[in-house]
Amino acid sequence: MCGIIGCVGRADETLDVLVHGLSKLEYRGYDSAGVALADDTVSVAKRSGEIDELRALLDETTIDGAVGIGHTRWSTHGPPTDANAHPHGDCTGDVAVVHNGIIENYQSIRDELVADGHEFASDTDTEVIPHLVEDALADGAEPMAALRRAVDRLEGSYAVAAVVAGTEAVFVARNDSPLVLGLDEGSEPHDESTATGGATRATYLASDVPAFRDYTDRVVYLADGEFARLDAEGWTVTDGDGTPVEKEIDTVAWDAEETGKSGYDHFMLKEIHEQPRALRQCLRGRVDELGAAVDIEDLGDLSPTGVQFVACGTSYHAALYGAQLYRRTGIPAQTFLASEYATAPPPIGDALVVGVTQSGETADTLSALREARHRGARTMAVTNTVGSTAARECDHALYIRAGPEIGVAASKTFASQLAALNLLALGTAPVDRPREAIAGLRDLPGQVQALLDDSRASAVAEQYQDAGAYFFVGRGHQYPVALEGALKMKEITYKHAEGFAAGELKHGPLALVTDDTPVFAVVVGDGEQARKTVGNVKEVEARDAPVVAVTDGRSDVERYADEVLEIPETRPEAAAVLANVQLQLVSYYTAKGLGRSIDKPRNLAKSVTVE
Ligand code: F6R
Repeated sequence: MCGIIGCVGRADETLDVLVHGLSKLEYRGYDSAGVALADDTVSVAKRSGEIDELRALLDETTIDGAVGIGHTRWSTHGPPTDANAHPHGDCTGDVAVVHNGIIENYQSIRDELVADGHEFASDTDTEVIPHLVEDALADGAEPMAALRRAVDRLEGSYAVAAVVAGTEAVFVARNDSPLVLGLDEGSEPHDESTATGGATRATYLASDVPAFRDYTDRVVYLADGEFARLDAEGWTVTDGDGTPVEKEIDTVAWDAEETGKSGYDHFMLKEIHEQPRALRQCLRGRVDELGAAVDIEDLGDLSPTGVQFVACGTSYHAALYGAQLYRRTGIPAQTFLASEYATAPPPIGDALVVGVTQSGETADTLSALREARHRGARTMAVTNTVGSTAARECDHALYIRAGPEIGVAASKTFASQLAALNLLALGTAPVDRPREAIAGLRDLPGQVQALLDDSRASAVAEQYQDAGAYFFVGRGHQYPVALEGALKMKEITYKHAEGFAAGELKHGPLALVTDDTPVFAVVVGDGEQARKTVGNVKEVEARDAPVVAVTDGRSDVERYADEVLEIPETRPEAAAVLANVQLQLVSYYTAKGLGRSIDKPRNLAKSVTVE
């Protein structure tokens, strides 16, 4: 949901660093992109469209400056035009600002500034910031103090970076939107009052680590209410009162190559193929030597009497599955869409509220977790992102360890979420036959690999890529998989797709089923659930719908199916991961056949930091 970057200390390379960083942040939004460089003056280049449009503009424009900021936009206020692209400036041209978040009170501030004679060039909420900075500078404030004065006026969420003519520094403020500093070897903290200068080393700033991971793995996560100044002498972080804050320097646990495509046509395909490794990483060191128990320090003392899950989108589907795992152990568990959590019943007794969030920055999920804390519950983040807001704000964090996911549509992180939720249930609840459950998890990486090596999904996709709509059905653990299969299909193909609990078809959706609507049925095992789902498959088959069975072959669903996508035999909760891989591939190849923008689907952004 917008990506921002800043860089000092790279002299002539600043522009290249900014544009490269923006290309790594494009998953956060790709409506427009822009950069501003500063020394004695501030120069800006920005354009609507993807980063290549900005590159084309930069080929025909010269902009100079030793320090700089950049932005890639996902539109909230105003359409994706050149004028609405960031950076935004003030009336003098001496200030440029990039912003991620939403300024809720921007209209009243804007009205006031316009009445005072300020001229606005865009429809954005962001533009009030440079004009507020301009006023503070005109009153004699230093740039850092001017930014403080400006953000003091703001209500809402913001990660802001600003440059000011005449100061080779980047000024930064954070509230409710992620920001992280990247430190080259030698980029050291300094207290503005004591700094005397020193070797110039690069310091970076970004919404997310991939933006500068090619240059450094040393990072400092900024917290809400903090400010930072990056300059030739290093960096300073201060609190709202201007008091220096001592920050911990973390090391990122993944390599720069993990943010490249490694020869795959799309990040999504690469990430689908990374699932065996992601699953191994999730499980590594978390099961005792005998494979009989989960051994995760942070789960040691947790034995919740009830669990509430909150999440959005794909993570919500994982959360539905997580609640099923708990209910099977006899512990009451419910799942809520994070954006609807306000209407949820309060957590009872010693309940745990678990936010499932890949990014750890989804505004709806953060807000639900804060509400849960307000209601007195213990909270946990199941997340992929170390240092994310969810991880820092919750009482506990369980990392899914999937590695960076760049494709906007979640793929490997869903598999890793399911694995991590199994670990969570195994570590905190009386799971039946834990040794078998753990063995099922341990088999998964190899089974996913075998399935990837031998899937018929691309042929199935080709056969049905012109269909009018797609339906997905499943029961039990396969129900969240059906929902996820449909979400993936609509996100990247732009076609109508719906997921249903298999038993619900006959209660209405069957009216939509025709010979132009393939039905993907996930059927696992040979028990009652499978038998009933096969019954539902017969109902759609009788209406001439093409049926694609995703199955381990233990039921007789193949008799009623036009196509079969096989998965190996395993426990139902592990089968969900495998069935989902087949459905991911079908969506991917359908989208590819249709020529869609797979890694950057229209209107979407990976990290949704507005409510
Ligand atoms: C779908 C997708 C989204 C996210 C949702 C929550 O492919 O990626 O539906 O799952 O926006 O994001 P996180 O997990 O970061 O909270």
